[in-house]
Amino acid sequence: MSSIRTAVFPVAGLGTRFLPATKAIAKEMLTVVDKPLIQYASEEAVAAGMDTLVFIVGRTKNAIIDHYDKAYELETELGLRNKTDLLKIVEEVVPPHIHCVFIRQSEALGLGHAVLCAKPAVGNEPFAVLLPDDLIYNKGGDSCIQQMVNVYEEKQGSVIGTQTVDITESDKYGMVAGPVLEQRLSRVDEIIEKPSPAEAPSDQAVVGRYILTPAIFDKLETTQRGAGNEIQLTDAIAELRKTEEIFAYSFEGARYDCGSKIGYLEANVEIALQHDEMAEGFRNYLKNLNLD
Ligand code: G1P
Repeated sequence: MSSIRTAVFPVAGLGTRFLPATKAIAKEMLTVVDKPLIQYASEEAVAAGMDTLVFIVGRTKNAIIDHYDKAYELETELGLRNKTDLLKIVEEVVPPHIHCVFIRQSEALGLGHAVLCAKPAVGNEPFAVLLPDDLIYNKGGDSCIQQMVNVYEEKQGSVIGTQTVDITESDKYGMVAGPVLEQRLSRVDEIIEKPSPAEAPSDQAVVGRYILTPAIFDKLETTQRGAGNEIQLTDAIAELRKTEEIFAYSFEGARYDCGSKIGYLEANVEIALQHDEMAEGFRNYLKNLNLD
């Protein structure tokens, strides 16, 4: 069993970049090929051995709660019609050993506040945070969060997923810097939320995967509003770094920023090209597409 049992999914954002699609539904319910974004993240956590999924939800997120609930009528109907393959797809959204917890974040005060809302469900244990907007795919290899669990097990300290970005994009991310310790692994000496390119300490950006020790909750309790007037997880991590060693892990795999329209479209195209049922037909379609 994994040393990290709990995964937290902050899904209370307003999704304004996808309006009007997100007027009534959560952006995390937008589908990439045939699965909602949130399910890619929950499957990643479950495959890495986590058994408690904590969703920090806001308004318009009822579809997420329904997605992780039993769908009695649908399941009964599929059973009666002997649609066993479809029934299996529906049942597998929440495997039998998984517990789901839903916590309302009534005010959108930022990612740090959302993570703090998970404290009663997490308790005094290390836990993972996965931001479903960041769809990370590592075909044939360990998922991003599995790679980070492996690092946690060796180092016994918080681990932040990172990626090299173009420095002109630093104001979209938390940016980290610190000495390289091993291949893919650095120590976090500095972490800043959304700095301008001139202020960025390096070109290493935080992506939406974290493994955090429970000491982060004490830091979050006193974190003031920061960038964007929100309570930032990055600021609490900067405080935690003063008392615990924190690691930045440059994961293996491709990341699609599904919080942006272009990243979302890229994810759809690339995942479709890997999809058992669709790959061949879709590849042929793209080959024949007249792009002029
Ligand atoms: C959040 C974090 C940021 C991180 C990013 C990764 O920002 O605050 O540090 O780099 O996720 O996707 P958001 O994209 O929610 O503005």
